[in-house]
Amino acid sequence: MTFKKKMLCIGAGYVGGPTMAMIAHKCPQYKVTVVDINPKRIAQWNSGELPIYEPGLDEIVKATRGVNLFFSTEIEKEIRECHIIFVSVNTPTKTFGAGAGMAADLQYWEKTARQILRNAESDKIIVEKSTLPVKTALAMERILTSGNNNIHFDVLSNPEFLAEGTAIKDLKDPDRVLIGSRRSPEGLRARDELVEIYANWVPSDRILTSNIWSCELSKLVSNAFLAQKISSINAISALCEKADADVTEVSRAVGMDNRLGSRFLNASVGFGGSCFKKDILNLVYLCQYYGLNEVADYWKAVVSINDYQKERFVLNMMNAMFNTLAGKRICLFGFAFKANTGDTRESPAIFISKRLLEERAQLIITDPKALDNAKFDLEGLEGAISYIEDPYEAATGCDAIAVMTEWDVYPKLDFKKIYDSMTKPAFVFDGRNILPHKRLFETGFNVFPVGKPPMTHF
Ligand code: UDX
Ligand code: ADP
Repeated sequence: MTFKKKMLCIGAGYVGGPTMAMIAHKCPQYKVTVVDINPKRIAQWNSGELPIYEPGLDEIVKATRGVNLFFSTEIEKEIRECHIIFVSVNTPTKTFGAGAGMAADLQYWEKTARQILRNAESDKIIVEKSTLPVKTALAMERILTSGNNNIHFDVLSNPEFLAEGTAIKDLKDPDRVLIGSRRSPEGLRARDELVEIYANWVPSDRILTSNIWSCELSKLVSNAFLAQKISSINAISALCEKADADVTEVSRAVGMDNRLGSRFLNASVGFGGSCFKKDILNLVYLCQYYGLNEVADYWKAVVSINDYQKERFVLNMMNAMFNTLAGKRICLFGFAFKANTGDTRESPAIFISKRLLEERAQLIITDPKALDNAKFDLEGLEGAISYIEDPYEAATGCDAIAVMTEWDVYPKLDFKKIYDSMTKPAFVFDGRNILPHKRLFETGFNVFPVGKPPMTHF
């Protein structure tokens, strides 16, 4: 079969895999290939068990794989054959040297740029999908124009706004698609080619085009604003606990103001995920680099409140359970950083597990999708940890349940049965405020929500 366009995506992760599957699904006229340096990942994408769990993804991949969607490890061959290359390799926080713990580590990304340059035999459009510090496209352009092979590269920024757990819905019906380009005639032509791809399913008024630097910055700023909203309500949750107010009532009242909006105002044990902390620290580093220290401090506080919220959760548990957790059996309900994903990157459950183990508690972890990742995250830690998929079995004989993830199965459980199987007095610490607190209290539990007065029997 001949295809109208051949496009490649380098990096078959949480962003690259679902995004390219959606393009293939919506655009049967294009051939879409996704490559990765990790052969195991590619083998999983080619198998019945995909490497990531995302509602609706399996169906789309099954319908397109081998038709116009291909997963491969032949990076160099695919670079030669395609016209448009999306780059979605990982850009973690640097762990060494200048900017360690804050700046983005661009080594994978730079290797990719050099690999494209070495193997390209015709003009190409390069699309940055990974979230990158502002002005990265300039560095990409400099590397790509350092060759003497007369090949022309146009670099575009097209950040991905999908959230895990709702990736397919977000890709199918995005709030907006953002495309940043140079203003040169070639830059605008390349931009129009990318617009044409999205126009296959996204209404034109939702496809925004902009200056390339605004585009790169908009992605960092969107994530920073979302995280800031969560840290704001989490900071208020601490005050609610002291002032006998109820954070759910406060957030409902605040969120009904259209200017503020009701979403992302759920108080929690803290935000997690691969993006928020990394992107805010990246923003902080950029501000410091430009000497904007007050701006840097402002954004840094969003991360500090998140750390405070996680530590506060552990201290609240300790306080409630007679100031010692040593030897107590604590069952973590959920380990993923949010519901509907198996991803545990930066999950608050990791920090809380480590702290509980430091306090010599015994951990029993249950999660419908994230137990393999949990085992990997906690590998080598000293202390007693068990992993049990069935929540009833996991809670049996425990002193406390601590809800880490808002899986919708948890509120539907038979808590009378759970209560009967636990050590007394039995505690629930609801880090997501999803359980029926009053009913739990009436069953006999001592209930500690986030940002609400506790309900105790003593
Ligand atoms: C985020 C952005 O939403 C997405 O646009 C971007 O492309 C990538 O980063 P993601 O990290 O997948 O997506 O999940 P998100 O739904 O934003 O949740 C992040 C964290 O915040 C989770 O731990 C979630 O549980 C927490 N959260 C979210 C809250 O604690 N309270 C809320 O009200 C909302
Ligand atoms: P994200 O959440 O941003 O998608 P992931 O870590 O899930 O990040 O995915 C990034 C993918 O990029 C990984 O599968 C990794 O193996 C791949 N990768 C990193 N460097 C390269 C490279 N030079 N060439 C091809 N793939 C790469």
